[in-house]
Amino acid sequence: MKKKLSILVIFLAAAAVTEFWFLALPQVSLQDLGVVSDSPDSIERGEYLVVAGGCISCHRGQTKETGDTFAGGLPIETDFGTFYAPNITPDLTTGIGAWNARDFLLALKHGRAPSGSFYYPTFPFRSYAGIEDQDVLDMAAYLMSLEAVYSDVPGPDAPFWLFRSSMAIWNKIANFNSPSFEDFDDELVNRGAYLARNLGHCGECHTPRNSIGIPDYSQEFAGAQIGEEIIEPINREALEEWTTNNFDIFLLLGLKPEGEFVGGDMNEVIEHNTSKLTEGDRDAMAAFFTRHNSD
Ligand code: HEC
Ligand code: HEC
Repeated sequence: MKKKLSILVIFLAAAAVTEFWFLALPQVSLQDLGVVSDSPDSIERGEYLVVAGGCISCHRGQTKETGDTFAGGLPIETDFGTFYAPNITPDLTTGIGAWNARDFLLALKHGRAPSGSFYYPTFPFRSYAGIEDQDVLDMAAYLMSLEAVYSDVPGPDAPFWLFRSSMAIWNKIANFNSPSFEDFDDELVNRGAYLARNLGHCGECHTPRNSIGIPDYSQEFAGAQIGEEIIEPINREALEEWTTNNFDIFLLLGLKPEGEFVGGDMNEVIEHNTSKLTEGDRDAMAAFFTRHNSD
């Protein structure tokens, strides 16, 4: 009896530890718990960061009236089901009107909902994890300054076994596979890396993934296939012939060095994101991608 009891105690303790380990909310710093800032500076910085983060590509509304807003509803097809980008306008019932600063940090950097539940990684929070806290808070300030739009977005259409809580395990495995990128000596290249790897989340499409959808950073930017779509490599070998200037023009116009315009989903990235960056940021991204070519 005593033995049975101690086995039970050990089992319960192990279950509690496991549960804590898998489900505990990550720590975000205390000063960030409060209401989202409404300072004009923060809102202005945030507007630019939301552009650099490419948020509109997924979150734009799907009707004529909501097409220029973050009302959501776009179905995103993946190998694991169809996921709908939510309404991220400050509507209280169908959007994120009730969110505080901490909710934004947990969502964008850790893939966790205010309730503690898990987001699916169609939301590129693995890339956004590297965004500086202040940048996330400024994006929050901008989004909360926008007009609330009522738009009810369907929940995901995923296979029955893909529970939200199974993302707890996925997140842990993905964390173990997280790259530890080194800083470059050059500030411009560092800024470019931040724009490409984190805000611009270029690797979400261009880096291959393993069978459970975790990016393989040992082959960063080596190209991938999503469904039927082939996504070209943009690593060192692939861009060998590209000069920094070629890359700059590409980010602005989508025009490749051989004189052809890029197609597919990349058009969206050019139109809504890279063409709207400041010249300095485009130069930085170009410097990052072509840094090997002037070696
Ligand atoms: C590749 C598409 C994609 C991009 C780009 C993207 N998101 Fe999302 N986002 C999603 C999807 C899909 C979800 C919902 C995931 C789920 O259902 O678990 C989501 C969820 C969210 C949520 C949670 C909303 C809620 O109601 O719980 C917030 C906030 C959010 N995104 C903000 C952003 C911001 C800010 C950016 C830009 C920095 C961004 N997203 C870029 C696809 C995207
Ligand atoms: C939503 C997925 C997606 C994202 C995010 C994305 N790309 Fe692409 N990219 C594509 C696709 C698809 C193509 C191929 C388009 C075609 O068929 O013409 C492509 C093509 C390219 C090419 C042309 C390669 C060649 O040799 O022709 C470059 C360069 C490129 N992307 C750079 C980037 C950069 C830089 C970023 C981040 C700012 C980025 N991409 C983010 C999907 C994406």
